[in-house]
Amino acid sequence: MKVVTYATAPRAAAAAASVVLEHLSQNPRLVLGLPTGNTPIPMYRALVRAHQQGRADFSRATTFNLDEFVGLGKDDPGSYRSFMNALFFDHVNLPMTRAHMPNGRAKDWRREIARYERRISSAGGLDLVVLGVGGNGHLGFNEPGPTLDAHTHRVALRPETRRANAHLFGGRWREVPTHALSMGIGTILTARHVVLLATGAGKARIVARALNGPVTTRLPASLLQIHPDVVVVLDRDAAARLTGT
Ligand code: GLP
Repeated sequence: MKVVTYATAPRAAAAAASVVLEHLSQNPRLVLGLPTGNTPIPMYRALVRAHQQGRADFSRATTFNLDEFVGLGKDDPGSYRSFMNALFFDHVNLPMTRAHMPNGRAKDWRREIARYERRISSAGGLDLVVLGVGGNGHLGFNEPGPTLDAHTHRVALRPETRRANAHLFGGRWREVPTHALSMGIGTILTARHVVLLATGAGKARIVARALNGPVTTRLPASLLQIHPDVVVVLDRDAAARLTGT
């Protein structure tokens, strides 16, 4: 894995945005996997700025978000769809028909997860996926456990994950949905290029365990060690506990 460290979180996010822009300029039909969370917010702002300044054309790109809460959709302020619309989709020229997210309000979630997986394959798979990491090491909503699901699936969220997402629900963690639909770890790992963005002292331990520790389903981000093309973009705080970089 290539690890690059910047002095501050905004610089790290800008670097992640530059990777996206570089891929987009080389391949206007880029198929891009996208994360939610607080960490990528400045990256989305940088991408919107680049678009407004005429440096980024998303008109032929396709995006697939990593996850969505079960039961929530675009009309719910706590949904990841609302988050993505407000921060990114509403401000760039990506056709909404190609801004894919798992549909948390699908009546039949089994059909929905199969449909999502099919859409990713028929788009030709992910060229580049940008990831954040949860405090417990999750990627998307692939929660730590004795096993992981390879493909898009329905997942029960762990209490710590519901707490980490409480800010989307007025700080009330019990209002965070109990389940989500998430792209699977196998689908993430088949992306041709991966960028992992992590910032802040709160991520230092998990980043060190993911990069320097054993590969284990108990820490889903550690599986990135087996991917041939990962760039880990960190700020100094998140890199503080790394060894050997
Ligand atoms: C959520 C998302 C993850 C994200 C994580 C980290 O749980 N499902 O994809 O990586 O939050 O969030 P933050 O960047 O706010 O620490």
